[in-house]
Amino acid sequence: MRVPNHIAIILDGNGRWAKKRGMPRSFGHVKGCENLEDICEVAKELGVKYLTVYAFSTENWKRSKEEVDGLMKLFRNYLKKCIKISQKNNMRVKVIGDITAFDSDIQESIEKLEDFSKDFTDLHFQIALNYGSRDEMVRAMRHMADDLSSGNLSKDEITEEVFNGYLDTKELPDPDLMIRTSGEERLSNFMLWQLAYTEFYFTDVLWPDFNKKELIKAIEYYNGRDRRFGGI
Ligand code: IPE
Ligand code: IPE
Ligand code: MG
Repeated sequence: MRVPNHIAIILDGNGRWAKKRGMPRSFGHVKGCENLEDICEVAKELGVKYLTVYAFSTENWKRSKEEVDGLMKLFRNYLKKCIKISQKNNMRVKVIGDITAFDSDIQESIEKLEDFSKDFTDLHFQIALNYGSRDEMVRAMRHMADDLSSGNLSKDEITEEVFNGYLDTKELPDPDLMIRTSGEERLSNFMLWQLAYTEFYFTDVLWPDFNKKELIKAIEYYNGRDRRFGGI
């Protein structure tokens, strides 16, 4: 089985998973977070080199205060716990997205985790938090505009590679396989630039139920695809 080098996952369906059990949405998020720990381990075991997960979008602030507060609490705990997980899995962790919107203690936990795990090499694990692809591109363009006006960059030097280097995902290969759980078939503002030639896999399975067997199914689907990148 050919294992994709970079898998990106839109973790969706936590709320519906909880609702089916008569539980509050926050319970679904707790279960979804536990599942993320398992999937990191499985991904490493299968030989995946890069795993990127969409955990909180720039649009998710629109949810109820109760739900957003619950998610922040979950991120606080998870980011701390992730120090141990990164060591156990020899996994480098990075957060993509605009983290300046988070409380300062969350920002500090992110910096600590990124710094602690920076030399781990088995799995490169990216968590998208307050991430939106349009926001990422606008931030990139602002940064480019600064470099243009300071003379660090000239208009003629702007290429796809140069633009790519201004994104949060700089230094990462593009995803080979994108998985979205819970039956939704849209990108919801996830990695619009980076997914240009990625294979998409959609499953009705809700994120808290997406286990090793389901990940292998997705990889098998990927193996059946004929990737072309515009050639023949
Ligand atoms: C995904 O699950 C997790 C986040 C977006 C934070 P949802 O919370 O979107 O669950 P559904 O889609 O309502 O079931
Ligand atoms: C996308 O899921 C964002 C994350 C999984 C973090 P949503 O559940 O927020 O997306 P929509 O609203 O169904 O498009
Ligand atoms: Mg959803």
